[in-house]
Amino acid sequence: MSTIAVSASTTARKKVTTLTLRQKKERGEPISMLTAYDYPTALALDQAGIDMILVGDSLGMVVLGYENTLPVTMEDMLHHSKAVARGAKHPFLVGDMPFMSYQVSVEQAVKNAGRFLQEAGMDGVKLEGGRERLDAIRAMTSAGIPVMGHLGLTPQSVHQLGGFRPQGKTASAAKRLLEDALLLQEAGCFSIVLESVPAQLAEYISMHLDIPTIGIGAGAGCDGQVLVTHDLLGLFERFTPKFVKKYANLHTEMQKAFAEYIAEVQGQSFPAEEHTVTMSDVEWQAFLKEARP
Ligand code: KIV
Repeated sequence: MSTIAVSASTTARKKVTTLTLRQKKERGEPISMLTAYDYPTALALDQAGIDMILVGDSLGMVVLGYENTLPVTMEDMLHHSKAVARGAKHPFLVGDMPFMSYQVSVEQAVKNAGRFLQEAGMDGVKLEGGRERLDAIRAMTSAGIPVMGHLGLTPQSVHQLGGFRPQGKTASAAKRLLEDALLLQEAGCFSIVLESVPAQLAEYISMHLDIPTIGIGAGAGCDGQVLVTHDLLGLFERFTPKFVKKYANLHTEMQKAFAEYIAEVQGQSFPAEEHTVTMSDVEWQAFLKEARP
C-alpha cells in the first residue's frame, strides 16, 4: 500500500462542511471532488480522502446508457444518492437536480431540493444555470439547503447550446459568465462548478468570488477540481472529453476478467476445489441411504 493510501485511510477524518470548503479556499488548499452513483465507489472515494462527492446526473450517460442527461428523473437521482450516502460518511455530498426538477416553479424546485436532504442523505444540491435561477436559489437557501451553482457548459441545455461545446470564449460571453457567477454568490450559493470555460476566465472568476469554484475543463486556476469518475477510471468508452485524464483503464480490465471467467467456465477449471462447498462422507452416505427410492 502506498503512503498516500495509508495516510488517507488511517487519519481520523472530520465531516466536510460548507465551512470547511470556504476555509480551504481561504487557505489556498485545492478542493477535490469526483462523482459517484453507488455504494462501493462512494466507500472507496471516502477512504481515499476526497473532499466532496457529486451524485451527478451524468449518471444518465455513464451508468444508465442514455445519450445525454435529459431523461434522468428525480427517482433515479434519489435512488443512487441513497446508495452513495450509505458508503460515504466524511465527504460533503451533493445531489444533482435533474432536468425539469427545478425549472417549472420555485415551489417545485424547493420541494425537490429538500428531498435530496430529507430522503437521500445529501448535504446539498447542485443546479445548472445563471441569472434565470436566482429565485429558486434564494428560496432553497432560505429553506436551509446548501446550493451549488453550475455555469459554462451546462449539459441539461445541450440542445440550446448546440452540443457539448466550450462556453465563455468571447468577451461578451465571458462578461456574462462573470456576472452570473457574482449573482449566484449573492443569491447564496456555497460554491460554483465552472465547466468547459477558458482557463484564464475561470481563474479570473475564482479570484473575484469569496465562495470556492470547482472546475471541470476550466484549467488549474479554480479552487477545486471535479471529474466524472467513470471518465477517470476509463469505464465510459463512448467518448472522452479533452479535459479528462484517465487514471485507469477499467473497461479493458473488466473485459479481460470476464473473458478469463468465460474461458474457465467453458474449460471447467472454475469452480476449483477451493471455491466448492463440501460435506462429510458420513453425512453424504447417510443422505444417499435416505434418498434411495
Ligand atoms: O453530472 C455531473 O457529473 C456534473 C459534473 C460534470 C460537474 O454535473
